[in-house]
Amino acid sequence: MFITKEIREELNHLFFLLRLQDRNSKSSLDKQVKIEQILAYLEIIHSQIRKTSRKRKLVFVDSGAGNCYLSYLVYYFYSKIEERDIEIHCIDYNESLMESNERLAKEMNFKNMFFYPMDIIDFNTDESIDLVYSLHACDTATDKTMYLGIKNKAKVILSVACCQHSISMKASSLKIVVRYKSFRDKMLMMVSDTLRALLLERNEYKVDIFDFVSSRFTEKNTMVRAVRTGFKKQVDAKEEYENLSKEFKMKPYLEELLAETEI
Ligand SMILES: C[S@@+](CC[C@H](N)C(=O)[O-])C[C@H]1O[C@@H](n2cnc3c(N)ncnc32)[C@H](O)[C@@H]1O
Repeated sequence: MFITKEIREELNHLFFLLRLQDRNSKSSLDKQVKIEQILAYLEIIHSQIRKTSRKRKLVFVDSGAGNCYLSYLVYYFYSKIEERDIEIHCIDYNESLMESNERLAKEMNFKNMFFYPMDIIDFNTDESIDLVYSLHACDTATDKTMYLGIKNKAKVILSVACCQHSISMKASSLKIVVRYKSFRDKMLMMVSDTLRALLLERNEYKVDIFDFVSSRFTEKNTMVRAVRTGFKKQVDAKEEYENLSKEFKMKPYLEELLAETEI
Protein backbone atom coordinates (compact mmCIF):
# COMPACT_ATOMS: atom_id res chain seq x y z
CA MET A 1 0.00 0.00 0.00
CA PHE A 2 1.51 3.32 -1.09
CA ILE A 3 -1.34 5.43 0.18
CA THR A 4 -0.54 5.74 3.85
CA LYS A 5 -2.91 7.13 6.48
CA GLU A 6 -1.09 10.49 6.25
CA ILE A 7 -1.46 10.65 2.46
CA ARG A 8 -5.12 9.65 2.72
CA GLU A 9 -5.70 12.52 5.17
CA GLU A 10 -3.91 14.94 2.88
CA LEU A 11 -6.23 13.90 0.06
CA ASN A 12 -9.32 15.02 1.99
CA HIS A 13 -8.90 18.57 0.78
CA LEU A 14 -8.63 17.45 -2.86
CA PHE A 15 -11.78 15.34 -2.49
CA PHE A 16 -13.52 18.36 -0.98
CA LEU A 17 -12.53 20.52 -4.00
CA LEU A 18 -13.80 17.76 -6.30
CA ARG A 19 -17.07 17.70 -4.30
CA LEU A 20 -16.52 14.05 -3.47
CA GLN A 21 -16.48 14.93 0.23
CA ASP A 22 -17.82 17.72 2.40
CA ARG A 23 -15.73 19.87 4.75
CA ASN A 24 -15.97 17.17 7.43
CA SER A 25 -14.67 14.52 5.00
CA LYS A 26 -18.10 12.89 4.78
CA SER A 27 -19.75 11.84 1.56
CA SER A 28 -22.69 9.95 0.12
CA LEU A 29 -22.36 6.24 -0.53
CA ASP A 30 -21.90 6.59 -4.30
CA LYS A 31 -19.12 9.15 -3.77
CA GLN A 32 -17.42 6.96 -1.17
CA VAL A 33 -17.51 4.13 -3.69
CA LYS A 34 -15.91 6.36 -6.35
CA ILE A 35 -13.18 7.39 -3.91
CA GLU A 36 -12.39 3.73 -3.15
CA GLN A 37 -12.24 2.94 -6.88
CA ILE A 38 -9.85 5.76 -7.74
CA LEU A 39 -7.61 5.14 -4.71
CA ALA A 40 -7.31 1.46 -5.67
CA TYR A 41 -6.62 2.44 -9.26
CA LEU A 42 -3.88 4.84 -8.15
CA GLU A 43 -2.23 2.03 -6.18
CA ILE A 44 -1.99 -0.04 -9.37
CA ILE A 45 -0.69 2.90 -11.38
CA HIS A 46 1.99 3.65 -8.81
CA SER A 47 3.10 0.04 -8.57
CA GLN A 48 4.01 0.35 -12.28
CA ILE A 49 5.38 3.88 -12.29
CA ARG A 50 7.33 4.18 -9.04
CA LYS A 51 10.48 2.64 -10.52
CA THR A 52 10.69 5.04 -13.47
CA SER A 53 13.44 7.68 -13.40
CA ARG A 54 12.47 10.77 -11.42
CA LYS A 55 14.44 12.92 -13.86
CA ARG A 56 11.94 12.33 -16.64
CA LYS A 57 8.53 13.94 -17.05
CA LEU A 58 5.67 11.46 -16.79
CA VAL A 59 3.14 11.53 -19.64
CA PHE A 60 -0.24 9.91 -18.99
CA VAL A 61 -3.43 9.68 -21.05
CA ASP A 62 -6.88 9.21 -19.45
CA SER A 63 -9.14 7.73 -22.09
CA GLY A 64 -12.89 8.28 -21.59
CA ALA A 65 -12.06 10.53 -18.66
CA GLY A 66 -15.62 11.69 -17.82
CA ASN A 67 -15.50 13.83 -14.70
CA CYS A 68 -11.72 13.16 -14.44
CA TYR A 69 -11.79 12.28 -10.72
CA LEU A 70 -9.14 9.62 -11.25
CA SER A 71 -6.89 11.98 -13.18
CA TYR A 72 -7.16 14.77 -10.60
CA LEU A 73 -6.11 12.29 -7.95
CA VAL A 74 -3.24 10.95 -10.08
CA TYR A 75 -2.08 14.47 -10.94
CA TYR A 76 -2.20 15.60 -7.31
CA PHE A 77 -0.38 12.47 -6.11
CA TYR A 78 2.51 12.77 -8.57
CA SER A 79 2.88 16.56 -8.69
CA LYS A 80 2.30 17.43 -5.01
CA ILE A 81 3.11 14.30 -3.02
CA GLU A 82 5.74 12.59 -5.18
CA GLU A 83 6.91 15.98 -6.51
CA ARG A 84 7.37 14.71 -10.03
CA ASP A 85 7.01 16.44 -13.34
CA ILE A 86 3.83 15.12 -14.90
CA GLU A 87 1.33 15.90 -17.60
CA ILE A 88 -2.03 14.24 -18.08
CA HIS A 89 -4.11 14.34 -21.23
CA CYS A 90 -7.80 13.69 -20.58
CA ILE A 91 -9.96 12.66 -23.53
CA ASP A 92 -13.74 12.50 -23.60
CA TYR A 93 -16.19 13.26 -26.41
CA ASN A 94 -18.51 14.96 -23.93
CA GLU A 95 -17.65 18.59 -24.70
CA SER A 96 -19.36 20.19 -21.72
CA LEU A 97 -17.60 17.82 -19.33
CA MET A 98 -14.23 18.65 -20.85
CA GLU A 99 -15.00 22.38 -20.60
CA SER A 100 -16.04 22.21 -16.95
CA ASN A 101 -12.99 20.08 -16.14
CA GLU A 102 -10.72 22.57 -17.84
CA ARG A 103 -12.18 25.32 -15.64
CA LEU A 104 -11.80 23.23 -12.48
CA ALA A 105 -8.18 22.31 -13.30
CA LYS A 106 -7.44 26.01 -13.79
CA GLU A 107 -9.03 26.88 -10.44
CA MET A 108 -6.90 24.23 -8.74
CA ASN A 109 -3.80 25.41 -10.61
CA PHE A 110 -3.27 21.97 -12.16
CA LYS A 111 -1.33 23.49 -15.05
CA ASN A 112 -0.26 20.33 -16.81
CA MET A 113 -3.67 18.75 -17.20
CA PHE A 114 -5.07 19.04 -20.72
CA PHE A 115 -8.60 18.29 -21.90
CA TYR A 116 -9.63 17.07 -25.32
CA PRO A 117 -13.31 17.05 -26.32
CA MET A 118 -12.96 14.31 -28.95
CA ASP A 119 -13.25 10.64 -29.67
CA ILE A 120 -10.40 8.59 -28.19
CA ILE A 121 -9.55 7.34 -31.65
CA ASP A 122 -8.77 10.87 -32.89
CA PHE A 123 -6.20 11.69 -30.20
CA ASN A 124 -2.64 12.15 -31.43
CA THR A 125 0.60 13.09 -29.76
CA ASP A 126 4.30 12.99 -30.59
CA GLU A 127 5.24 12.55 -26.95
CA SER A 128 6.46 9.30 -25.52
CA ILE A 129 3.56 8.01 -23.39
CA ASP A 130 4.24 6.25 -20.11
CA LEU A 131 0.69 5.21 -19.38
CA VAL A 132 -2.71 5.06 -21.06
CA TYR A 133 -5.54 4.27 -18.65
CA SER A 134 -9.30 4.06 -18.66
CA LEU A 135 -11.86 3.46 -15.96
CA HIS A 136 -15.32 2.32 -16.99
CA ALA A 137 -15.05 3.74 -20.48
CA CYS A 138 -18.11 2.27 -22.12
CA ASP A 139 -18.66 0.05 -25.12
CA THR A 140 -15.85 0.17 -27.73
CA ALA A 141 -13.93 2.79 -25.70
CA THR A 142 -11.96 -0.03 -24.06
CA ASP A 143 -10.77 -1.24 -27.49
CA LYS A 144 -9.95 2.33 -28.51
CA THR A 145 -7.97 2.84 -25.30
CA MET A 146 -5.87 -0.26 -25.97
CA TYR A 147 -5.41 0.72 -29.60
CA LEU A 148 -4.24 4.20 -28.57
CA GLY A 149 -1.72 2.60 -26.22
CA ILE A 150 -0.44 0.10 -28.78
CA LYS A 151 -0.23 2.70 -31.58
CA ASN A 152 1.81 5.05 -29.38
CA LYS A 153 3.88 2.25 -27.86
CA ALA A 154 2.79 3.31 -24.37
CA LYS A 155 4.87 1.61 -21.71
CA VAL A 156 1.80 0.60 -19.71
CA ILE A 157 -1.89 0.26 -20.62
CA LEU A 158 -4.49 -0.15 -17.87
CA SER A 159 -8.13 -0.70 -18.64
CA VAL A 160 -11.28 -1.49 -16.68
CA ALA A 161 -14.20 -2.05 -19.04
CA CYS A 162 -17.77 -0.95 -18.43
CA CYS A 163 -20.73 -2.06 -20.55
CA GLN A 164 -19.91 -3.89 -23.77
CA HIS A 165 -23.11 -3.55 -25.77
CA SER A 166 -21.48 -3.73 -29.17
CA ILE A 167 -19.82 -7.10 -28.65
CA SER A 168 -21.69 -10.31 -29.35
CA MET A 169 -20.96 -13.88 -28.34
CA LYS A 170 -22.21 -17.34 -29.23
CA ALA A 171 -21.35 -19.91 -26.61
CA SER A 172 -22.86 -23.05 -28.13
CA SER A 173 -20.82 -25.45 -26.01
CA LEU A 174 -21.75 -23.55 -22.82
CA LYS A 175 -25.38 -22.79 -23.71
CA ILE A 176 -26.58 -24.28 -20.46
CA VAL A 177 -24.24 -22.05 -18.46
CA VAL A 178 -24.83 -18.74 -20.22
CA ARG A 179 -28.61 -18.91 -20.05
CA TYR A 180 -28.12 -17.36 -16.58
CA LYS A 181 -27.65 -13.61 -17.03
CA SER A 182 -24.94 -13.28 -14.43
CA PHE A 183 -22.90 -16.07 -16.02
CA ARG A 184 -23.51 -14.72 -19.51
CA ASP A 185 -22.18 -11.29 -18.49
CA LYS A 186 -19.17 -12.85 -16.80
CA MET A 187 -18.44 -15.11 -19.77
CA LEU A 188 -18.70 -12.18 -22.17
CA MET A 189 -16.24 -10.22 -20.08
CA MET A 190 -13.85 -13.16 -19.65
CA VAL A 191 -13.77 -14.08 -23.34
CA SER A 192 -13.61 -10.49 -24.65
CA ASP A 193 -10.83 -9.47 -22.26
CA THR A 194 -8.89 -12.67 -23.03
CA LEU A 195 -9.13 -11.93 -26.76
CA ARG A 196 -7.92 -8.36 -26.15
CA ALA A 197 -5.11 -9.70 -23.96
CA LEU A 198 -3.98 -11.99 -26.79
CA LEU A 199 -3.98 -9.04 -29.22
CA LEU A 200 -1.91 -7.05 -26.73
CA GLU A 201 0.51 -9.99 -26.37
CA ARG A 202 0.91 -10.10 -30.13
CA ASN A 203 1.98 -6.46 -29.87
CA GLU A 204 4.76 -7.04 -27.34
CA TYR A 205 2.79 -6.50 -24.15
CA LYS A 206 2.86 -8.76 -21.12
CA VAL A 207 -0.68 -8.96 -19.83
CA ASP A 208 -2.36 -9.89 -16.60
CA ILE A 209 -5.99 -9.61 -15.59
CA PHE A 210 -7.19 -9.23 -12.01
CA ASP A 211 -9.75 -7.54 -9.73
CA PHE A 212 -8.34 -4.09 -8.98
CA VAL A 213 -10.79 -3.32 -6.17
CA SER A 214 -13.26 -5.25 -4.07
CA SER A 215 -16.56 -6.00 -5.82
CA ARG A 216 -18.21 -4.13 -2.92
CA PHE A 217 -17.10 -0.93 -4.67
CA THR A 218 -18.02 -1.94 -8.22
CA GLU A 219 -18.93 -5.19 -9.89
CA LYS A 220 -17.08 -3.88 -12.96
CA ASN A 221 -13.75 -4.39 -11.26
CA THR A 222 -11.75 -6.43 -13.78
CA MET A 223 -8.54 -4.72 -14.78
CA VAL A 224 -6.44 -5.59 -17.82
CA ARG A 225 -2.84 -4.54 -17.22
CA ALA A 226 -0.49 -4.58 -20.19
CA VAL A 227 3.20 -3.76 -19.84
CA ARG A 228 5.39 -3.30 -22.90
CA THR A 229 8.37 -5.53 -22.48
CA GLY A 230 10.43 -7.94 -24.48
CA PHE A 231 8.99 -10.92 -22.61
CA LYS A 232 9.15 -14.55 -23.61
CA LYS A 233 5.76 -15.51 -25.00
CA GLN A 234 4.15 -18.45 -23.25
CA VAL A 235 1.43 -19.21 -25.76
CA ASP A 236 1.02 -18.88 -29.49
CA ALA A 237 -1.13 -15.75 -29.21
CA LYS A 238 -2.16 -15.79 -32.87
CA GLU A 239 -3.35 -19.38 -32.84
CA GLU A 240 -5.03 -19.07 -29.43
CA TYR A 241 -6.78 -15.90 -30.54
CA GLU A 242 -8.13 -17.54 -33.68
CA ASN A 243 -9.34 -20.60 -31.78
CA LEU A 244 -11.09 -18.64 -29.05
CA SER A 245 -12.58 -16.10 -31.46
CA LYS A 246 -13.97 -18.97 -33.56
CA GLU A 247 -15.31 -20.92 -30.58
CA PHE A 248 -17.29 -17.94 -29.20
CA LYS A 249 -17.86 -16.18 -32.53
CA MET A 250 -16.51 -13.04 -30.94
CA LYS A 251 -14.38 -10.27 -32.42
CA PRO A 252 -13.45 -7.32 -30.24
CA TYR A 253 -13.29 -4.00 -32.08
CA LEU A 254 -9.57 -3.87 -31.24
CA GLU A 255 -9.00 -6.56 -33.89
CA GLU A 256 -10.56 -4.34 -36.55
CA LEU A 257 -8.61 -1.27 -35.43
CA LEU A 258 -5.30 -3.12 -35.52
CA ALA A 259 -6.07 -4.69 -38.90
CA GLU A 260 -6.94 -1.31 -40.43
CA THR A 261 -3.56 0.15 -39.56
CA GLU A 262 -1.52 -3.05 -39.83
CA ILE A 263 0.20 -2.48 -36.49
C1 LIG B 1 -18.97 5.68 -17.45
S1 LIG B 1 -18.08 7.12 -17.85
C2 LIG B 1 -16.60 6.88 -16.91
C3 LIG B 1 -15.89 8.17 -16.67
C4 LIG B 1 -14.68 8.11 -15.76
N1 LIG B 1 -13.57 7.39 -16.38
C5 LIG B 1 -15.01 7.51 -14.41
O1 LIG B 1 -14.56 6.42 -14.11
O2 LIG B 1 -15.75 8.14 -13.67
C6 LIG B 1 -17.53 6.77 -19.51
C7 LIG B 1 -17.01 8.02 -20.24
O3 LIG B 1 -16.40 7.61 -21.45
C8 LIG B 1 -16.72 8.55 -22.46
N2 LIG B 1 -16.54 7.87 -23.76
C9 LIG B 1 -17.10 6.70 -24.16
N3 LIG B 1 -16.69 6.37 -25.38
C10 LIG B 1 -15.83 7.35 -25.78
C11 LIG B 1 -15.07 7.58 -26.95
N4 LIG B 1 -15.11 6.72 -27.96
N5 LIG B 1 -14.30 8.68 -27.03
C12 LIG B 1 -14.27 9.57 -26.01
N6 LIG B 1 -14.97 9.41 -24.86
C13 LIG B 1 -15.73 8.32 -24.74
C14 LIG B 1 -18.14 8.99 -22.13
O4 LIG B 1 -18.45 10.25 -22.67
C15 LIG B 1 -18.12 9.00 -20.60
O5 LIG B 1 -17.81 10.27 -20.08
